[in-house]
Parts: sequence; C-alpha cells; structure tokens
Amino acid sequence: MSDLNPILSGSAQSIAAYQEAIEQSTQAVVQWLKQPEMYQGKTVAELRERINLEFTSQGLGNQAAIERAVEYFLKDSLSVHHPQCVAHLHCPSLVISQAAEVLINATNQSMDSWDQSPSATIIEMKLIEWLRAQVGYPAGDAGVFTSGGTQSNLMGLMLARDAFFARQGHSVQQHGLTGNLSKIKVLCSENAHFSVQKNMALMGLGYQSVTLVKTDAFSRMDVNDLAQKLAEAKANGEQVMAIVATAGTTDAGAIDPLADIAALAAEQQIWVHVDAAWGGALLLSEKYRHFLNGLELADSVTLDFHKQFFQTISCGAFLLKDARHYQLMRYQAAYLNSDFDEEQGVPNLVSKSLQTTRRFDALKLWMGLEALGKKQYAEIIDNGVTLAQQVAQFVAEQPQLELVMQPQLASVLFRFRPEKGDTARVALLNQRIGDALLASGSANVGVTEADGVTCLKLTLLNPTVCLEDVKVLLASVVACGQQLQNA
Ligand SMILES: Cc1ncc(COP(=O)(O)O)c(C=O)c1O
Repeated sequence: MSDLNPILSGSAQSIAAYQEAIEQSTQAVVQWLKQPEMYQGKTVAELRERINLEFTSQGLGNQAAIERAVEYFLKDSLSVHHPQCVAHLHCPSLVISQAAEVLINATNQSMDSWDQSPSATIIEMKLIEWLRAQVGYPAGDAGVFTSGGTQSNLMGLMLARDAFFARQGHSVQQHGLTGNLSKIKVLCSENAHFSVQKNMALMGLGYQSVTLVKTDAFSRMDVNDLAQKLAEAKANGEQVMAIVATAGTTDAGAIDPLADIAALAAEQQIWVHVDAAWGGALLLSEKYRHFLNGLELADSVTLDFHKQFFQTISCGAFLLKDARHYQLMRYQAAYLNSDFDEEQGVPNLVSKSLQTTRRFDALKLWMGLEALGKKQYAEIIDNGVTLAQQVAQFVAEQPQLELVMQPQLASVLFRFRPEKGDTARVALLNQRIGDALLASGSANVGVTEADGVTCLKLTLLNPTVCLEDVKVLLASVVACGQQLQNA
C-alpha cells in the first residue's frame, strides 16, 4: 500500500508525489496564463461534446489526471485576469492569495473547532477584530468568515428575524416560526441583491415578505419612499423585521444613504443589515472611504473579499455589531464546543457560523494585507473607481454609445445606440453584442438591465487595466454593434 498511497503525508513518497503534482499543475498554469486569448470561444454544445469523465477502475494516476484537467478544464477556462474580461464582480486574484491557497489546502485545517485549527482560529478571530475596527464597530470578535455575500446576507437576515421574534418572547430556534407570517416584512431597495429574496424564501417567509423600496436616479434607496413604505406597513398591520441597505449594488455600484436609513430604522427599533459585499472594499480606500459613512450604525454587515479585495473564491465575512445576538443561533455539540471547553476558555468558531466544516479563507486576507500593506491595497481598490469615472466620460463623448448612469464604484453602465430602432431593438442588439463578443473569445462584457431596459456593463475591478485597454474594448463593442445592425 505504501508505494501507492495517494494521501498527503510526511512520508518521502508522499512528499515527492505532492511536489511533482504541484509542479506539473503550476507549470500548466504558467502556460495558461501566457495564452493571449480571453476565452477559446467554445459553445455550450461543443464543451458538452468534448468533455467526458474517465473514471476507470485502475485509476489514471496523478500525472494523467492533471494532464486531462489541463486539456479539458484549463484550456477552455475564462481568463479572469484578461483586460477585456469585465462582465462581473469576478476579480483577478492576488499572487499572495494563490500562495495562501497552497497553505490552506495543504494543511486542510477546519475552522469549526480549535482542536482542528489552533493557529488558524486565532488568526481568523484577530482578523475579525481588525475588520470590526475598520467598520467602526465596538471592540470584539463577533463575526466570522463565510463563503461569500449570499451566506453573509443569510446570517444577517436570520439573526434579524430571530431577534425580532425574541423581542416578542418567542424563540424561533426552539419552536420555529409562528403567527401570521404574511405580515412580516423586510425592506430593501429595488436594486438590492437577489439573495435577499432567496434567503427570505429559505427562511420560510417567502418572496412575498420582501417589500421593494424605490430608488433614485443613481439606483440608491430613496429614503422618502422608505419612510412611506414603513408608514404603509404600519397602517397595514405589518411588522418590519429588517431593512437591508446595500453599499455597492451589483450593477450600478450604488451606495444607499446608510446614515439616513439607520436613523429611520432606529425610530422603530428595526434591524439594519448592510450588504457591503462590493462597496466594503472602500474600507481600505484612501480616497473613497467616506462613501461608507454610516456603516458603523448597522446591526450587521456583509463583506466579500472575492470581489474588490482580489481574493480567490471563496472568501467573505459576516460582522455582527452586538455579540449577544449570537445567542440566537447557539448550539452546543459535545464533540465540538462542549460546556467544559467553553468554561476553560477554548475558542470555537462553529457557534458563530452556519457552516460546520469550513475552510481557512481568512488566511488569504491576512496574507494579502501583510504583503501589500494598506497603501498598495488602497491604490488597487481606488484604481477601479477612478478608472470607471474616466471611462464614463469617454463613453459620454462617443456618438454611438449612451452612458446610462454616472458610475459610483467601479462599474460603467452603457448601451450601443443603433442609428434607428425602438427600445426593444436596442435591448436585443445590446444582448447580441455581449453574446457575440464572448463567442468570439475576445471579451466578456456584462449584459444586464437598467430601469428594465437591457444595457451593457463594464466591471472595472482589474487594477492592471487602463483607459487605453477599455477604449480598445469599446471600439470592439461599436464595431460589433455596427456589424449586427447592418446584418
Ligand atoms: C451586492 C451583492 N451582494 C451579495 C452578492 C452575493 O455574493 P456571493 O456571490 O459572494 O454569494 C453579490 C454578488 O455579486 C452582490 O453583488
């Protein structure tokens, strides 16, 4: 068995196999990074046809398995780092994040209990303390790393729901949901992330529990409409368990007026959760930190480091202002966080997380902050915001393009304008431009909607991209639009 042992361990045979497999994979990545194309342009049907799974009884061995992964996965992967890959909040990653992944993966610590991740538990707790200080929260370590924004939003909504019921003397954790559930509401803007709806459905309250607040011309929550929706809810006998504000909406990058929202919520003791999955990056900004003023007033916050913090997927965090609310999801498992251990002061993170087994993703942020320093980190974050402003100005000067909205974070919403055609034709043409560019393999541009009408989106996270790169991309959008409109 020992010669064939496939497990990573301290044996000479295992270490040699590990080094060979990692070296082979690293070399393949280096070749892939050198590929000039953003994407090889294969269609869904072509990839379905090409990719087959070869699970033989003897096994192929590490080398052949890696070769097949290179052939069928790597070659047809999207080059997220390519300057023309700007469709989504999907960042190129820091080199140091890659190094952190090597350490995370090889050590395979699990964050649910201290005896499975001793140093990692302490590092994560210290990082949470640091993140709280950046937000302006009181000192403490209430918070946890998560798989990303969706899970962090779920934690915020779940604790808001359970705190709401607890105020009425009812424990959801013990007894489940009760009462007239159709009267329980969450308010968020029309542009909030869809995970609010999905999470409310998951929590047993359904999409019907989400009341959408109107937005202003910059996609930010309209506080007058919020005040009106709160008054209407009261008049209808509804109870608002939470307001979700967004700091950085997915498309426009809009930041809701956080302080005004918190003030309205405070009047009625309503929980405020801020989804800062994207805009939370400005915590590190030198130029734009003030956009987040009021974040410290929220009861809970979502942060996402696999967006404009340039960490590999996945890496997010949830912060809870008042640690006492963690009691609402408390569960004691004898094998992980026993009374005995807790009385001895043994830390555990399972009681702060929805996950049990959990990766040590915090290491990536910690190493990123140490390697880059706050100044360089701020520069690469600010770069995208400043670039978006320059691109918007350029777009506004192009006769064949229409700027949909002034940028607020690092995205630009715009349309190709055909010489003639109604809204439906403009929408279809822009959709087809996005599809054609991806099919050609040359660019990935976002296709989304603004005020219900299809438009294009550039998400300019990549700090190595400059205005000239974006001009090249916009020239291909125009060329493609002209070709399609004449076809
Ligand atoms: C504003 C906002 N919140 C939450 C999410 C969900 O984050 P994740 O994909 O990390 O679950 C996104 C994703 O783009 C987002 O833009």
